[in-house]
Amino acid sequence: MLKDKIEELKKEKDVVILAHNYEIPEVQDIADFVGDSLGLARQAAKTPHKTILFCGVHFMAETAAIISPEKKVLIPDTNAGCSLSDSINLEQLKKWKSEHPNAIAVGYVNTTAEIKSELDYCCTSSNAVNVVKAIPDDKEILFLPDMFLGSYVAKMTGRKNMLIWAGECHVHAGITPDHVKEKLNSLANAEFLIHPECSCTTPMMYDVANGSYSSNQVQILSTEGMMNHVKNSKSNEFVVATETGILYRMKKQNPDKKFIPASEKAECEYMKMITLEKVYNSLLNETNVVTVPKETADKARLAIERMLAIS
Ligand code: 13P
Ligand code: SF4
Repeated sequence: MLKDKIEELKKEKDVVILAHNYEIPEVQDIADFVGDSLGLARQAAKTPHKTILFCGVHFMAETAAIISPEKKVLIPDTNAGCSLSDSINLEQLKKWKSEHPNAIAVGYVNTTAEIKSELDYCCTSSNAVNVVKAIPDDKEILFLPDMFLGSYVAKMTGRKNMLIWAGECHVHAGITPDHVKEKLNSLANAEFLIHPECSCTTPMMYDVANGSYSSNQVQILSTEGMMNHVKNSKSNEFVVATETGILYRMKKQNPDKKFIPASEKAECEYMKMITLEKVYNSLLNETNVVTVPKETADKARLAIERMLAIS
């Protein structure tokens, strides 16, 4: 069986397999660690294995290659990109920075290595609020590239001097207030877990703040934050507003609880490009090695290390 062959090759070649929460079930099952962007970056930084096989999208594998330059990083499909990381290029960022020469550039981990090399801080959805809080109040911030996460962070920190790039992830932007409101009205006992990249995040936050819903009922969380929340919550029913791949892990770890996707259509075609066959081929042939030019990696590493230091 393919699964057994993967296990054998993994041991023989001293490989650790990391998989994002949005990967298909078979890929999650053969991974040594499944987690969110921050958790996987932490695993990549500390792994003793010689090779990292990254089952996720390209920017995640690049991040691993930057923080562990002495390791070989493989990705099963080099076409596994990200619409959010494509929403800003180097030229645009340099121009934006030149218009605000004293600002601090904070970028989401969903960016290319080139973009990271121009950042002061990198962050993920689970630590974006704390990263921004760590920056002195009088410093102007350029936050990129996700506008929904940016608005959420601005609201949570009360920061007025934060400029936000108008980028989005097509999957999360497609989870709209209508999807969530329709379920809020029909599933009165469910808890609502919302990823801050969703276009429904800002309106939902205002509704919660205005007392339309109890704040216990609506939680805004990263994917790993959602995993921890469902494990510890007394509720039995959850509406999940993020990419639907996470539901497999949620059901597996919490078989007695019920999980309903806010939108069935919220599937990331890039994450789904990683199949068991491609994992096997990549392990066997050691193709699709992800590399980052040394100069870019050296500049990007500082912003990533700042991200890893703040939880
Ligand atoms: P997290 O897993 O960090 O919450 O990120 C979600 C995402 O969209 C990754 O591409
Ligand atoms: Fe990028 Fe969105 Fe896919 Fe995450 S879900 S990898 S942000 S396109």
